Amino acid sequence: MKIAISGKGGTGKSTITGLLAHYFNNDGYKVLAVDADPDANLASALGIPSEVASSLTPISQQRRLIEERTGAKPRQFGQMFKLNPVVDDLPDELCFDYQGIKLIIMGGVRKGGSGCACPENVLLRSLLSEIILHRQEVVLVDMEAGIEHLGRGTAQAVDKMLIVVEPGWRSIATAQAIIKLSKEIGIRSWGIIGNKIQNNHQKEWLKQQFQSDLWLGMISYRELIQEADLKQKPLIELMDSVLKTEIDQLYQKLHKEITKLEKT
Ligand SMILES: Nc1ncnc2c1ncn2[C@@H]1O[C@H](COP(=O)(O)OP(=O)(O)O)[C@@H](O)[C@H]1O
Ligand SMILES: [Mg+2]
Repeated sequence: MKIAISGKGGTGKSTITGLLAHYFNNDGYKVLAVDADPDANLASALGIPSEVASSLTPISQQRRLIEERTGAKPRQFGQMFKLNPVVDDLPDELCFDYQGIKLIIMGGVRKGGSGCACPENVLLRSLLSEIILHRQEVVLVDMEAGIEHLGRGTAQAVDKMLIVVEPGWRSIATAQAIIKLSKEIGIRSWGIIGNKIQNNHQKEWLKQQFQSDLWLGMISYRELIQEADLKQKPLIELMDSVLKTEIDQLYQKLHKEITKLEKT
């Protein structure tokens, strides 16, 4: 199962990716969680203590590795380098194991669209492609709203793209742009998750923004989610019964839809 999670910054992508990683893990799956958002915070969302998280070096900052694999120095243009670096050993080599969940932090790459060929971009794109095309785990990729790094061949292997929205036009507009772009690169299945919902009015408003078959679930605005963030505690351990019911439903629906996709 290959799942990408996208949406506007701050909507709750990492929070939800972190929870889903624990859910799949607790359900007996091997999980590989990938932080592909330059604004990386999946480690903390998984519940990894900050002193440990801050010691994990994103791949985009591992200069020696980038040079060794691509044959060129990062952050420099005008060099010759390998466009297909060997990366198949890297997921195991570079991942950090947390309570049985493997985590890989990609880090930020220089912007410049998919045509930007600098060594660090090439390495990250190759690695993401390797993970989505060839790994056997349940892969959860926490992505920024810009999903260009996926590339066509990789996108086609994504089983489902989850898009997180919150009540408000801005995240809706971002979600619509993501759907359009992801369709163009070959994604075929989406799941919208409404997050930070404060009342029924917001819920009804949000519902109307997307066709019903795109909806995966809704999560209420909860102070305990922020508390977990503040206290740097794993949210999975602080959930109350209300939140647990919402996430249980979300997970069950996602699991069912993906298993169905796999059979067809
Ligand atoms: N349902 C929610 N209720 C309250 N706060 C939330 C909720 N979901 C996320 N948050 C908070 O919103 C902030 C952004 O969430 P985060 O998962 O980091 O977003 P993203 O990864 O999309 O940028 C965090 O402080 C998080 O604790
Ligand atoms: Mg995030």
